[in-house]
Amino acid sequence: MKKLKVGIVGASRGGAYLKNYANSDRTEISAVCDLDQSKCEQVAKDLSLTDRQIFTDYGQFLNADTDIVVIGTPIPFHAEQAVQALEAGKHVLSEVTMANTIEGCKQVYEAAQRAKGKYMMAENYIYFGFIREWKKYIEEGRIGRIHYAEAEYIHDIRKLLFDKESGETFWRTYRPPIHYCTHCLGPLMYLIGDDTIVKATAAGNKNTIVPDLWPSTIDMQVALFETKQGRGIKICRSQVTPRPEPHTVYYSVYGTKGFLENTRHGKDVVGNRYFEGIDKQTVPFNCYENEIEAPDFAKNSHGTSDYYIAQDFLDCIEFDREPFLNARRAFELTLPGLIAQEAAVKGNVWLDVPQLD
Ligand SMILES: NC(=O)c1ccc[n+]([C@@H]2O[C@H](COP(=O)([O-])OP(=O)(O)OC[C@H]3O[C@@H](n4cnc5c(N)ncnc54)[C@H](O)[C@@H]3O)[C@@H](O)[C@H]2O)c1
Repeated sequence: MKKLKVGIVGASRGGAYLKNYANSDRTEISAVCDLDQSKCEQVAKDLSLTDRQIFTDYGQFLNADTDIVVIGTPIPFHAEQAVQALEAGKHVLSEVTMANTIEGCKQVYEAAQRAKGKYMMAENYIYFGFIREWKKYIEEGRIGRIHYAEAEYIHDIRKLLFDKESGETFWRTYRPPIHYCTHCLGPLMYLIGDDTIVKATAAGNKNTIVPDLWPSTIDMQVALFETKQGRGIKICRSQVTPRPEPHTVYYSVYGTKGFLENTRHGKDVVGNRYFEGIDKQTVPFNCYENEIEAPDFAKNSHGTSDYYIAQDFLDCIEFDREPFLNARRAFELTLPGLIAQEAAVKGNVWLDVPQLD
């Protein structure tokens, strides 16, 4: 197959995809766009790109010779940039979340239905080695039918919400923690399989740790969800609560025949499992020892997940396969967080999560 040409917009987090696609024999980086000219120049230097391959203007970047556009810009730009790239005939791999508004999610979904190219949301946490391993256990029926699932993503990123010295604010300053829900809901809904969230509520609406810059500084939010098939889901999010590294990326799934959970304490510490009929009691096990192999350049603080999601998107294009994280799933994983925030503001009411036809 001829090499696919990749353009990347947003050269900060986009750097993970720059690295993966620049080092792949299936792809080449043919264009880079960032509002910050110096970042473009740095990428050009690192990858020997010419001045004609770097852009600060997104419209001009879309006219460059690319097959794939990777969107690594702040979330408020995702909807507009994804729609424009799809309309320009590109395949789109967009960072999480799909968009920061319901309307934005709908626009991307509709553009993806009309588009020739594929759309995929880059929810990399689904590609963690242990999540993939758990999926196999679940498909083998080891824990029966999942009836409840839970996740926590507690990451103190106060320095990314505002600059303490200057008071400068950033794009994350006004993002409620629960809006950033896909690292929690992505793996849980992948493990559950064919189901969608239909109702949402949330508790936690006060910011006492950082008493301004609401809502990003809400101390902690807990959202409850109900799925179409009657499953309960709980997720917990904070961006400000003091917790030095390691931050928590915690999951548990309970089924009719057992459960699986990883640890709240980072790598190399045991999680627990129980498979009825196989285990006599709850068994501690290391969720991280079977990290999927990947080339050294591909390993980073997200394990090998960025590498595998990048490769999976290429497979979807090459073999004309619908991405698991297509626009429908991106919508179904992003909207519950937007609705949960509305529910918290309205006084912890339960709200219906809009569904696609
Ligand atoms: N999946 C993950 O694990 C993960 C991790 C971190 C960030 N993210 C996502 O990646 C995205 C970027 O996050 P970040 O931490 O790199 O943010 P950042 O603020 O550090 O960097 C954003 C970059 O985009 C550029 N930019 C901003 N607006 C632009 C525009 N309109 N056009 C072109 N360039 C623009 C900025 O100059 C900057 O270089 C967000 O969507 C975030 O949610 C995902």
